Amino acid sequence: MAIINDSDAYLNKDRLLAQHQAALSLLQGKLDRPGLTDLIWLDLGCGKGQIIVNLEHNIGDEARTKISYSAFDIIEEHLSITLKKAESLKFKSSNGKIGDISDFPNLFPVENKYDFITLTNSIHEFSPLLIPDILFESIIRLSSTGLLFIYDMESLPSLELGAITWTREEIHELLKSFFKNFNIQDYNPTPGRWNHSSCFGWNIQLSREYINISDEELANRKAKAIELTKKDIVTILKRKLDECEKSLESITKHGAETDEEEKSKQKLLYDFWSLNRIKEI
Ligand SMILES: C[S@@+](CC[C@H](N)C(=O)[O-])C[C@H]1O[C@@H](n2cnc3c(N)ncnc32)[C@H](O)[C@@H]1O
Repeated sequence: MAIINDSDAYLNKDRLLAQHQAALSLLQGKLDRPGLTDLIWLDLGCGKGQIIVNLEHNIGDEARTKISYSAFDIIEEHLSITLKKAESLKFKSSNGKIGDISDFPNLFPVENKYDFITLTNSIHEFSPLLIPDILFESIIRLSSTGLLFIYDMESLPSLELGAITWTREEIHELLKSFFKNFNIQDYNPTPGRWNHSSCFGWNIQLSREYINISDEELANRKAKAIELTKKDIVTILKRKLDECEKSLESITKHGAETDEEEKSKQKLLYDFWSLNRIKEI
């Protein structure tokens, strides 16, 4: 899978984004666990390290020195900026890997468990059909009390050619399909929806201790469950494409009358292209 050229990573030392604050508050709570000496954190699609850009101010020295931080990104320059920052933070350890998220299972041995996995602002850049694999591969790499935190935007402040954004409802539908197909019962994680100044964001938190199925059993169920979830994703994508076509058809006939409709036209055109690129739908 190739990265989309419009992919970008935000880096601003003077700002802490709400999604990163949310993740860091969860991390803070985990670091306070009595007796904890080592918290292993994997930051998938780490970008330029915006999530840790102010960590020396966000989390005290005693807690930070318990963190073993691993960063992963497809762009070497991003990873290098992130690791430079990580090395200044007095972490217990820090390291990084370059690679494509589709290679995640090969690059990170399943025996290596993580207490905290973050994936912020990146899902829209990944092929939608990879999402069930990313969920599965992350879940089976969580420690027994590990947490997976995912956050992304419902729409992008700057349009990116080839990006596919998800609404909270769509990501919930995908998640329900994933849980149903893996036959994970009694745990129904519900995505959140959050206001930003220019768009809405959604997030999910998956706790390993609430999934009452062993890694081995999840692995046994993987092939069938992922195949079925991908089918449901194709259904969601077809519906997105259908809605997009209908809206574009209407604008073609009646025009975009307001600035808002003009903006929506641009987004629809970008969406139309991104959805049409997915050969499976
Ligand atoms: C918008 S940035 C988000 C960075 C960071 N997580 C944050 O919250 O600021 C998306 C990141 O995903 C990375 N990325 C895009 N496609 C990827 C892929 N196929 N495999 C691994 N990383 C990828 C990009 O290089 C970029 O650094």
